Amino acid sequence: MDTRNIGLRNIEVADTKICSIDGENGKLIYRGYDILDLANHSTYEETAYLLLFGELPNTEELNEFNKKLTESRMIPHSLIKNMKNKPVSAHPMDILQSSVLELADYDFNRSDEGKEANITRAISLIAKIPTIVAAWDRIRNKMETIEPLQDNSHAHNFIFMLKGEQPKHEVSKIFDISLILHAEHSFNASTFAAREIASTRASIYACVGGALGALSGELHGGANIQVMKMLLEIGDINNVEPWVKKRLASGGRVMGMGHAVYKTTDPRSEVLATLSRAISREKDTIWYDMTEKVEQITKQIMLESKKILIYPNVDLYSASLYYSLGIPVDLNTPLFAISRIAGWNAHIIEEKFAEAAPKPALYRPKAVYVGRYCGPMGCEYINIINRKPNKLLNNKQ
Ligand code: COA
Repeated sequence: MDTRNIGLRNIEVADTKICSIDGENGKLIYRGYDILDLANHSTYEETAYLLLFGELPNTEELNEFNKKLTESRMIPHSLIKNMKNKPVSAHPMDILQSSVLELADYDFNRSDEGKEANITRAISLIAKIPTIVAAWDRIRNKMETIEPLQDNSHAHNFIFMLKGEQPKHEVSKIFDISLILHAEHSFNASTFAAREIASTRASIYACVGGALGALSGELHGGANIQVMKMLLEIGDINNVEPWVKKRLASGGRVMGMGHAVYKTTDPRSEVLATLSRAISREKDTIWYDMTEKVEQITKQIMLESKKILIYPNVDLYSASLYYSLGIPVDLNTPLFAISRIAGWNAHIIEEKFAEAAPKPALYRPKAVYVGRYCGPMGCEYINIINRKPNKLLNNKQ
């Protein structure tokens, strides 16, 4: 058996003051604060401030931070114009990624790599990402884009820009809690991608662009889209058991279940399950009940077949929650990004400007060269006219 830590599991690659996860006991801590306390008492803006600056703000500091956020919500008109030229079939995560990279073109202070300049960019990205996501959804649906509000919360403003009407307070509150829960999660794939890029001293735009690419994958943030597709495919609570059985018997994965770090319930999924149940009951939808059954059957089969317990992760119940609230399925991962940008930014700043030793270094892990085609070393270069066909290009091997 290969006992190496493939996939960097449990390898310590850096120090961080931002987040800690206790996977055995299901605890998630942002800058010393339990995620459940933050979800109960805080707001996304306050949590983003905490992640970025390391302390909870007082009233004056929070007001100043909110002012900066609201002032930065607008995106350049030419960015909207460019979006209008994209095929309407484009995936919202791809649009978000390309738009974030495009924002670098409008940063006329781009060469200033100082900490203050990067914090200003971080705030601007937190503010602008919801505007991009909402604008693209309206553009692809042939609707006029809606300018951001100059007041109201981050969550409220996003739904307003997306739907074109002021959301009820309860709906904004649910989104706000979900944003808090998704804001940070230590060295997950997208955050590590952001830090890895930051370690080269590339710009924050390049780091966030890379993080967005990593987040889009279905084993990471893309799982919440796959969860909803799964529920839609299953279609009825009576179909859950046969569907999950078939899926697992064929070696497939049940999206939204399992986690690389948590060996018990992910604390975020419990809160999201409560919200999903409440909204499903209110709107009389089937999605919460189906999700609960998926969880129960997957746990049962995994225990019987592999003698392992797997638990729901953050993506399982967010899918039914967002769907019951009328969010298009493929916006699930962009919604994750609207929140996670706070954590990414905190890590990028820490990677670029950490003062305490050991200071971050350029990431350069070691790979084991296993020489797939011609043995590890010593291949003789053969002139092209003498080479045998290998039929690799069109997978004809
Ligand atoms: N469905 C079916 N089997 C699963 C599973 C899932 N969701 N999650 C883990 N397993 C199985 C694996 O197939 C593996 O079995 P094996 O040892 O026979 O190969 C075993 O459990 C351990 O899986 P492994 O991939 O090593 O666990 P991990 O802890 O490294 O995986 C994930 C973490 C997230 C990649 C994995 O749980 C997964 O693919 N989940 C679905 C995707 C998802 O929801 N991603 C969002 C994460 S927040």
